[in-house]
Amino acid sequence: MSENKHRVSRRQFLNYTLTGVGGFMAAGILMPMVRFALDPILKEEAGTEMVPVAQVKDLTTEPQRFDFKVKVKDAWYESEEPKSAWVYKDEKGEVIALSPICTHLGCTVNWNGDKAHPNQFFCPCHFGRYTKDGTNIPGTPPPAPLHRYEYKVKDGKLYLGKAKPRGEV
Ligand code: FES
Repeated sequence: MSENKHRVSRRQFLNYTLTGVGGFMAAGILMPMVRFALDPILKEEAGTEMVPVAQVKDLTTEPQRFDFKVKVKDAWYESEEPKSAWVYKDEKGEVIALSPICTHLGCTVNWNGDKAHPNQFFCPCHFGRYTKDGTNIPGTPPPAPLHRYEYKVKDGKLYLGKAKPRGEV
């Protein structure tokens, strides 16, 4: 075998070297971009986990307001969003956790906020009213019941998840 067959010409050497270095540099530039684009898809959606809100022993048959925070992820930005819930135990001992967001135009409802209509949730914006279980009262503006939070009880603590329309929880 002649030695010439194994020789690499200067032109070939430059081609191999430049292709290798060019590919390495291109990968170095493209990989972070690909990862950046796919990151939100690959990561588990934030804000889906349940957060501890109260001790179950502290719940009464009278709705109480609990404030808490949930982690919210908007694409690459993560933040904490303040939330509230009206929580009580019904006559069967079941936990009812209602969103305070009025289903009319999104104002905040209060329990016993209207002295003329006791034992109801009241929305001061347009005088919307709801019964204790969150049902909208006919003849008032809200078109639907208050949303209910998904919940679980673990180690004596009440955890709340997402608030969903009646029938979905
Ligand atoms: S926003 Fe509640 S009644 Fe209109």
